[in-house]
Amino acid sequence: MHFSSILSAAGLAGMAVAGPVQVAERQAQKLRIMPLGDSITEITCWRSMVWDQLAEAGLAGQVQYVGSQNSNPQNCKPNTANWDQHHEGHSGWLAIDIANNYLANWLKSTPADIVMFMLGTNDVFRGRTTNDIMAAYTKMVGIMRAANPKMKIIVDLVIPASFNNNGIQAINARIPEWARGLNSTESPIVIADCYTGFSTSDLRDGVHPSLSGDRIIASRVGPLLLSYVRQSLGQ
Ligand SMILES: *[C@@H]1O[C@H](CO)[C@@H](O)[C@H](O)[C@H]1NC(C)=O
Repeated sequence: MHFSSILSAAGLAGMAVAGPVQVAERQAQKLRIMPLGDSITEITCWRSMVWDQLAEAGLAGQVQYVGSQNSNPQNCKPNTANWDQHHEGHSGWLAIDIANNYLANWLKSTPADIVMFMLGTNDVFRGRTTNDIMAAYTKMVGIMRAANPKMKIIVDLVIPASFNNNGIQAINARIPEWARGLNSTESPIVIADCYTGFSTSDLRDGVHPSLSGDRIIASRVGPLLLSYVRQSLGQ
């Protein structure tokens, strides 16, 4: 009697210690997804729509969005009320500046397993050349892989804008060959085509997606992300 109550006390003590540790381990093991971009990532609702896709697939409990930002500026109301609002979207920012000055530190502060990014619109608006923008893309992939050699990368074809669209088309035309050239088994790159079928009527202000535009982006990015998540979780 006495002996068994000691055993059960030890069992309880063990559980009391193991509980929080196990929770912490589960948190740490969550797959980390960084939505990276400019205002088309920050002040839009496609992030929340993609989260709904994760939730509908039963995967939301095993993933988290990461980044230095934690915001919902458009007051998006997806089906999943408690969607993860972390992201690395920065309104007005250039791919070139993010590559040269910021991404390495962001990935140090909030490490990621998967990065999904759309960038280049502001570089085009500021007259940067396609070559310089693609060099920034290459630099970003190098930084991602230095941070995590197994980084899984989704690069978006950039949505159209109602002005300067030639520059955006020029980036998009380069992305497929660029991605194939840098692709690897350990750190795959896949392309989310957010351009085809996206018209200027899917923009709310000539630059940012309206609700229909958000839906297009989510429909192109989400399935690729789900596939990466399932691969990573071994499902
Ligand atoms: C990169 O390789 C993966 C297979 O590892 C493939 O599914 C994907 O389409 C490739 N990406 C590009 C841009 O060719």
